[in-house]
Amino acid sequence: MGRKALISGITGQDGSYLAEHLIELGFEVHGLVRRVALEQPDERLGRLGHLLDQVKLHPCSIESYASVFSILSRERFDHCYHLAAQSFVAESFVDGFSTMNTNTNGTHYLLAALRELQPGCRFYFAGSSEMFGKVQETPQRETTPFHPRSPYGISKVAGYYLTMNYREAYNMFCVSGILFNHESPRRGYEFVTRKISRTAAKIKLGLAHELRLGNLDAKRDWGHAQDYVRAMRMMLEQDTPDDYVIATGETHAVREFCERAFAEVGLDYRDYVKQDPQFYRPAEVDLLVGDASKARAALGWAPVRTFPELVREMVQHDLESLSRPRSSHLASASN
Ligand code: GDD
Repeated sequence: MGRKALISGITGQDGSYLAEHLIELGFEVHGLVRRVALEQPDERLGRLGHLLDQVKLHPCSIESYASVFSILSRERFDHCYHLAAQSFVAESFVDGFSTMNTNTNGTHYLLAALRELQPGCRFYFAGSSEMFGKVQETPQRETTPFHPRSPYGISKVAGYYLTMNYREAYNMFCVSGILFNHESPRRGYEFVTRKISRTAAKIKLGLAHELRLGNLDAKRDWGHAQDYVRAMRMMLEQDTPDDYVIATGETHAVREFCERAFAEVGLDYRDYVKQDPQFYRPAEVDLLVGDASKARAALGWAPVRTFPELVREMVQHDLESLSRPRSSHLASASN
């Protein structure tokens, strides 16, 4: 019998790469999606377009325990990857209540329903380097104390401890991956890397004339999402459950991402990037850089893609997709 995996958040960047990865390994892949996604597949299932005949999608609201319970009472899974969340940090300052509700309760509902119905299913929680926030040491590792700086970061700390508590209290195989920023051509347009790659490509093609950003001095440890989803699966295949930092160990400023992205299209970012107070956050995370040596040693995981390769891939993708005729460009808009 083949193994079965359930992915919440399967329509997102990580969900789509993880689904591809698990299908390649022979898993039967199921996904939880909002009903509205099934009603508007062109807009909302763009990243899964090429996989739609290979995954089984279940309409579900992770904000409802009954909804989660109902699906888990119908299908049994070997792995459950909980990636669904309100994942945009800036939005969590605008609507902290729904961020906390979706992210914290969504995690709790899945854990509670698994405990009730299939405690043998292995559970992965998408933790985040945002949990380190105002960092207490550099680089950040599994033992670094948390100091979240946003409702989003706080919701992830709560999810991390819920996951740990189910592991300790009920002896379930529950783990958190503490993933540092990870990007790709499938990244949502609101995140800074994609905003930069897309706007640089637009400026090159004469479709935009400037790029308005917030804090250019924030530093992030940016890896490639496709490398990071492998680590999620590896964590669930260990003999014992544990939490792992996943990072490249390099940090770069937003300004450097701009510099490289614009250079990729033969432009100087200083001629186009304008700083705009509306994109500053009430509390910023200034510096993130992770130490993934535990994952390297225990999982045998290492990133493959380098930072310059990541920037190049994103800019080239946006250049190509924006250069295509309008109809095909719309079809790939969300990949
Ligand atoms: N989004 C955005 N837009 N960020 C900007 C902008 C802008 O116009 N200008 C500067 N920034 C800065 C932000 O202030 C932040 O310091 C940095 O760019 C990165 O912002 P995001 O790309 O939005 O990502 P994030 O670091 O806040 O969060 C991402 O990574 C986390 C892991 O550390 C998200 O993917 C989270 O869901 C994830 O947990």
